[in-house]
Amino acid sequence: MRVLGIETSCDETGVAVYDSAQGLLAHALHSQIELHAEYGGVVPELASRDHVRRLLPMIRAVLADAGTPPPQIDGIAYTAGPGLIGALMVGGAVARALAYAWQVPAIGVHHMEGHLLAPMLEAEPPAFPFVALLVSGGHTQLVRVAAIGAYEMLGESLDDAAGEAFDKAAKMLDLGYPGGPEIARLAASGDPARFRFPRPMTDRPGLDFSFSGLKTFTLNTVAAHAATGGLPDAQTRADIACAFQEAVVDTLVIKCNRAIEQTGLRTLVIAGGVSANRLLRERLERKLAARGARVYYARNEFCTDNGAMIAYAGCQRLLHGGGDDLAIRALPRWPMTSLPPLGAA
Ligand code: KG4
Ligand code: ZN
Repeated sequence: MRVLGIETSCDETGVAVYDSAQGLLAHALHSQIELHAEYGGVVPELASRDHVRRLLPMIRAVLADAGTPPPQIDGIAYTAGPGLIGALMVGGAVARALAYAWQVPAIGVHHMEGHLLAPMLEAEPPAFPFVALLVSGGHTQLVRVAAIGAYEMLGESLDDAAGEAFDKAAKMLDLGYPGGPEIARLAASGDPARFRFPRPMTDRPGLDFSFSGLKTFTLNTVAAHAATGGLPDAQTRADIACAFQEAVVDTLVIKCNRAIEQTGLRTLVIAGGVSANRLLRERLERKLAARGARVYYARNEFCTDNGAMIAYAGCQRLLHGGGDDLAIRALPRWPMTSLPPLGAA
């Protein structure tokens, strides 16, 4: 089965063609970072309009790249949520219209299920069951994954997501967006011994997270070291970035280790934008190797938003009889645990 995947949930237009026998055939991504840069955050209406502009030319280019004329497409997968309503509507409307014109099924994919399954696109994919740490700009969740669609929420953030915390800390240090890679870059020249930031909610049992206190701690540290009316000096900024990254990574590692211990599973999958973080990968690998557990993640470009993960997730569901009616699905809020197990719908 050959599936066209479309991702438009936020500020990235992603398109891909995935073939169940041959793997990923082609993919393309357009990031709107520059479009939103002057506003200091994603402007939803501008995001929707840019998806409108980009999507059809990108679909044409990716189909050509994949050597796949429309009659060879067997189904279309699009991100149906969670995300920005206008942005989701663009991908959904285009996907639904093309599916109708080409007389193939279309399926609305859950964005976080897409992230969760992205490591399946790698040469050595993880095997079920596993624990997944989903860490993106909007979500921080620990999930027990028995199979596609069989998700048990083990813990999640009570406030900010890990990626959101990176983005906000970066803003405090006058760094660009997205903040994760910027913080990681600055942290490389920081002294990890200068500041020690809190590891929220690690001193009590449970697998939930909270990052808003860490955000306040970061803001207070920046303010305490700021020259009058400005920012701290360059070395102090690097030391703060370093302490912040250490605190987030340490917190995530502690909870992942706990989840592996509690479930007795030996496989951890990390997915979503923050899973591109090198320190997080290294620390997790080291900690879990001691337990005989292995860590899996997608290549960097498939950690952040992309069309390939949507094409893959949609293909799995279409192969097992999934497929929606003619309605365009756009669900800004959509709990992943409400998804049907593979083959049930
Ligand atoms: O999954 P994603 O592309 O979009 C959402 O679904 O939210 O995740 C984006 C988030 C941003 O908050 C960004 O700062 C973070 O992932 N991120 C990182 C890194 N690369 C992206 N955070 C830490 N380290 C990175 N290397
Ligand atoms: Zn995402």
